[in-house]
Amino acid sequence: MEVDNTQIFDTLPDSIRIIGKDKKIIWANKLFEDLVGIDKEELNGSKCYDYLCLGKTLGDKDCYLDKVLNDEVLPQREITIKESKDKSITFLVTHTPYRNEKEEVIGIVEYLRDITSLVNTRTALEEQLMRSKIILGKTVNALVSAIESRDPYTAGHQRKVSQLVRQVAQAVKPEDRHWVEGMRVTAQLHDIGKICIPAEILANPTTLKKEEFELIKLHSAVGYGILNNVDFGFGFSIADAILQHHERLNGGGYPAGLTGDDILLEAKILAVADVVEAMTNRRPYREGLGLPAALDEIESNASEKYDKDIVDICRDLFMKEKFKFQETAAASI
Ligand SMILES: [Fe+2]
Repeated sequence: MEVDNTQIFDTLPDSIRIIGKDKKIIWANKLFEDLVGIDKEELNGSKCYDYLCLGKTLGDKDCYLDKVLNDEVLPQREITIKESKDKSITFLVTHTPYRNEKEEVIGIVEYLRDITSLVNTRTALEEQLMRSKIILGKTVNALVSAIESRDPYTAGHQRKVSQLVRQVAQAVKPEDRHWVEGMRVTAQLHDIGKICIPAEILANPTTLKKEEFELIKLHSAVGYGILNNVDFGFGFSIADAILQHHERLNGGGYPAGLTGDDILLEAKILAVADVVEAMTNRRPYREGLGLPAALDEIESNASEKYDKDIVDICRDLFMKEKFKFQETAAASI
């Protein structure tokens, strides 16, 4: 069987054209002719930008394609062409050098793959993701509001802890915005388990009996129970971080008395921010103890109770970056 190369190229699903060093079109396949509505004869000899300019200029000077002629490897690009008011086509464009028998670059092969349906699917998924984020935000706000309705101090505490946690998380993993956002949400919910504790106990823990304090200590496990089956999609378990936020490096925390590396990074961050906020700000049963006392607590117990790196970040946020807790009227995400 004799193989007709032209026929093969004309049946390919990609639009292809070959462009010479002078930016003139040397050859194009059938799909490219159909795309621009011009036949081969007319295309041959015309400039590559006469019908479909994929470079950054509409002329020879500083043409994007010069890089290919200089044997540079260019990344694939997405190009969207508007066909009409309501219709556009998106191509994934690849440029590769076209070489002679001596391996010298004598032109460019340009492939245009129609990825319109992929892009439409991607856009729909992005819109769905955005809607999911809005629903997640409203759900978190509803949970925070639920506790606020009976214990405004815990709700305010969670919001302020989330401000500090966000800054600490940003310093720990500046490149991971998704994780930082997850940490902020975790902090907003970290005491959600207090919803099961009588409000009068929460409001006055200075005179708590031992059994009442034991009841308060259940809140991290209750919070875990509330959120354990919820996948927030942040790449870590918010429920596990909440379960461990009262654990301490030396094993003196609760509920499991975990030590060192058995405690999640997320929980270690929550622990430091939780203590600093709780000591700095006013509680129903006492005035705020002040920032110096809060920083003294975490610094004097760094490496023993609290992760030293996180303590250092937290101290620097207050002392160098002048971080301040902001009063917020409502939960937000
Ligand atoms: Fe807590």
